[in-house]
Amino acid sequence: MVSKGELPLGCCVDLSRGSVRKVVIAGNWKMHMTCAEARRYIDDFLPRIQNVPSERDVVLAPPFTALSTVCTATGDSRVLISSQNVHWDDNGAFTGEISAPMLHEHGVSYTIVGHSEPRKYYSEPDEVINHRARGAQAHGLIPILCVGESNSQREENLTEQVIRRQVEQGIEGVDVTNLVIAYEPIWAIGTGKTCACEEANRICELIRRWVGSDDIIILYGGSVKPGNIDEIMAQTHINGVLVGGASLDPVGFARIANYQPLAATAI
Ligand code: 13P
Repeated sequence: MVSKGELPLGCCVDLSRGSVRKVVIAGNWKMHMTCAEARRYIDDFLPRIQNVPSERDVVLAPPFTALSTVCTATGDSRVLISSQNVHWDDNGAFTGEISAPMLHEHGVSYTIVGHSEPRKYYSEPDEVINHRARGAQAHGLIPILCVGESNSQREENLTEQVIRRQVEQGIEGVDVTNLVIAYEPIWAIGTGKTCACEEANRICELIRRWVGSDDIIILYGGSVKPGNIDEIMAQTHINGVLVGGASLDPVGFARIANYQPLAATAI
């Protein structure tokens, strides 16, 4: 078996679903976890996800400093690795940035682009986010393109307009068959306020229409927890989750990966 770090460029993950719908359960650790903490986390986490159905990709996005540790500690397990960002050039004078070949060397398969935090704190525009997504794909990484409205945009009834712009500009020139989109309403991130499942589902359906692909994998993110995952994953247009705070606890995140959609439990 080829280990994550030995995958050739351009063939990291197969997003095609075959007859079974693919699901992505991703944990974004943001600026948390030293290497020692990450190692302890993985030791605790791996035995808990052994029975997760095979059509679910379990993905962890550690900070850059812990990528190597997490890749080594997860070995040939089913955990896939995401970076939290990527630059579009292979190398160059871009202080603080990281390139797709550098990430690939560490066994990275996915990369988060357009998260609301860099959009907000560093004013990252859609054009830059689009460059990142295209650069990632050029090296076989699958971008997880984040979109979402702020609270004030929501209150001004601008949700659809804002997300449509983020989607359309974000995917320009991007191969949508190798793309994941994460709908993360900003007002739901780290606040404990989850978007009502029906509303999240409605927005995800709109995103699917705007992308123009029935097969695009769309995640929901924003205060996902063990207590609400089963309801979220029962929604027809939600194909997974991007989890922040709750992914820092290996027990809770394993419960999220082992979700039981409500419709299925009712049978
Ligand atoms: P929380 O799950 O902490 O709300 O964060 C969501 C997020 O930003 C994932 O990228």
